[in-house]
Amino acid sequence: MGTQEHEPAAGGGTPRPPSAVYNWLSMVGVALVVIGIVGSAVLAISTAVMPSTPQYVGILFLPPVALIVLGIILFPLGYLLEKRRRSHGEAGRMPMQILIDFTLARHRVILLTTLVVGVLAFTVFAMGSFQAFTAMETNAFCGQVCHSVMAPEYTAYQHTPHARVRCVECHIGSGVGWYVHAKVSGVRRLTALISGTYARPIPAPITDMRSAKETCEECHWSSRFVGYKEKVLTYYTKGEDSPETKLRLLIKIGGADSPFIKGFGIHYHMQGANKVEYIARDRQRQEIAWVKVTRRDGSSTEFNHQDLGLSEEERSKLPVRRVECLDCHNRPAHEFKSPVDAVDGALAAGTLSRALPYIKVRAVKALDSNYDTTDAAMAGIADSLTEYYKENYPDVLTKQADLLKRTTAQLQAIYKTNFFPEMKAKWSAYPKNIGHRDWPGCFRCHTDKMLSAKGEKVFTDCTKCHLVLAQGKSVERVSTVNYTRGQAFNHPGYDEQIKEYTKCIDCHTGGADLY
Ligand code: HEC
Ligand code: HEC
Ligand code: HEC
Ligand code: HEC
Ligand code: HEC
Ligand code: HEC
Repeated sequence: MGTQEHEPAAGGGTPRPPSAVYNWLSMVGVALVVIGIVGSAVLAISTAVMPSTPQYVGILFLPPVALIVLGIILFPLGYLLEKRRRSHGEAGRMPMQILIDFTLARHRVILLTTLVVGVLAFTVFAMGSFQAFTAMETNAFCGQVCHSVMAPEYTAYQHTPHARVRCVECHIGSGVGWYVHAKVSGVRRLTALISGTYARPIPAPITDMRSAKETCEECHWSSRFVGYKEKVLTYYTKGEDSPETKLRLLIKIGGADSPFIKGFGIHYHMQGANKVEYIARDRQRQEIAWVKVTRRDGSSTEFNHQDLGLSEEERSKLPVRRVECLDCHNRPAHEFKSPVDAVDGALAAGTLSRALPYIKVRAVKALDSNYDTTDAAMAGIADSLTEYYKENYPDVLTKQADLLKRTTAQLQAIYKTNFFPEMKAKWSAYPKNIGHRDWPGCFRCHTDKMLSAKGEKVFTDCTKCHLVLAQGKSVERVSTVNYTRGQAFNHPGYDEQIKEYTKCIDCHTGGADLY
């Protein structure tokens, strides 16, 4: 390309020196602004026609916008520098004309190459950032790459009904605002990661989690009428052959009113016009001190917990929450199984054999020990079983050596998927609010301690929430069931029936304390 230094204009006269705007820096600024604008336009068109746009597509616009901003900064900067140069008597450095001659092959080649390289570079750049942001949304990124701290949640998640729901769908909202929010708090967490100052276990509930409306209800229809759900629960008690006993439970999940169905049941009390509000004393919302129900007919009742009463000051300071999905379903994606449940599950599935004496109790005890590391736990589980049988059933070590080995390996596998000593994450660190056996759960409010000014209680009648249809060795025959009252619950291993208002957690913790 030919350049030409500025010369006197044709026709004579004194040539006017070109404005200081004509300098390389300002011109680069102009070019950047143009590229940025064209880039944004290309992105806007291509994301509009994309079949599925990722959560934070807005972030792709950051690079072209950055170019525009840089351009806007360079333009006046170039001008000022050039002015200063010229005030020191120096001549302008930029040629005033750039001649492109299309008859010259050399010029055509240079121009074409510049164009092709420019378009290619831009495409690669756009695709690269697109890939990078899609990768950051994957579970592998959330659960493994820079989030090794979250290995417990990632592992537990893979065994829940939500194993195919991506982390970001529950944890991060859509849009640039949420993306930046997540990454900014991510930077804070990264510093904690590097310095090792992060909390172990990671505290739950997460304070900046969006409401259930924006997470769960993206997929679950809040007023769906679920009706009744029948569950057969299988338990193994503490006898020598770990006797099996079953419970067939009909759970009254219910749902909201519709023109065709009258609403009732567990889901009904937070649906539509019904509203339950509460104040909890603790961060994990286990100690509920005050509850207020507003029913669809407009009537309302307030209840106060007799042992957890609030002072005026506490009442004004603590937040009032309205019951939503997460107040009951708080571990939908990260359930760490308790030793009792994990062992029951493995015995029922047959992956643990009942042939070893007292295996139910021994397995629970082996799992529920305070190991400092996973390696220590692997050794501890093996030692605990071997020592017990060596002392009490020496025959096991000779005649059932193979079974003992397999049982040990199975328990070690259970441990690795549910216990994470390095992060202090296990069932006992994370209360589960569905039910009431190992955690206060429903009984946080449904307790005889929760009284209104008139002395009414929040009900604890077992049959309002579920019916026992059958129980014992076999639960196949349910022909004798009374569907309004069910049967009284026969507590496994006890002859006595459980009375209303029994606090299961007085004895149950999910761990070895039971035995
Ligand atoms: C179905 C929705 C859902 C999905 C999917 C999900 N989470 Fe969660 N997660 C939650 C909820 C709800 C909590 C709060 C639990 C509580 O309050 O006890 C939580 C809590 C957490 C916590 C805090 C510690 C804890 O155990 O409570 C971490 C860390 C976490 N999730 C990471 C992840 C990772 C990593 C993924 C993807 C592999 C993921 N989550 C997928 C709903 C989800
Ligand atoms: C992206 C969609 C999606 C989101 C978001 C989501 N879920 Fe689900 N959820 C599902 C699907 C799909 C299933 C059914 C899984 C199956 O049956 O295999 C399910 C199942 C469930 C079940 C039944 C579990 C069982 O044992 O059968 C519960 C309870 C549940 N979800 C609660 C929640 C809660 C609470 C949240 C919010 C923290 C949530 N879900 C967020 C898609 C979602
Ligand atoms: C006084 C203490 C105590 C109370 C209160 C109590 N339990 Fe139990 N529970 C036990 C003991 C001990 C066992 C173990 C029995 C055995 O293995 O023979 C047990 C076992 C069970 C089992 C079988 C668990 C398994 O997998 O082995 C269930 C289910 C159960 N209890 C439910 C309840 C419920 C529900 C409540 C509250 C309504 C309750 N229990 C209240 C002491 C209690
Ligand atoms: C008052 C406590 C409570 C609240 C609030 C609650 N649930 Fe449930 N939900 C339950 C119980 C209890 C069950 C039955 C136990 C089980 O199957 O795990 C259940 C069952 C379910 C199921 C399984 C239904 C099936 O067909 O198997 C889904 C899905 C579900 N809930 C979604 C939700 C969603 C979404 C919300 C919020 C809009 C919500 N729940 C609010 C207590 C609650
Ligand atoms: C406020 C509602 C409510 C009341 C009242 C209630 N339960 Fe439950 N119960 C539940 C829920 C929810 C579950 C969990 C069901 C599931 O596993 O999905 C449950 C679970 C159980 C289980 C199975 C425990 C397990 O984890 O294996 C037993 C046994 C039981 N209840 C007995 C009783 C008895 C006995 C009473 C009366 C003293 C009672 N319940 C009162 C809601 C209630
Ligand atoms: C934050 C307190 C609180 C928690 C936690 C709670 N409930 Fe409730 N629940 C209430 C109040 C208050 C009422 C209304 C009682 C009334 O109307 O007098 C109620 C009503 C109900 C009803 C009756 C609905 C109807 O048809 O009238 C059922 C069933 C129920 N709860 C089940 C459960 C189950 C199951 C759980 C645990 C998974 C649970 N609740 C957890 C406070 C709570």
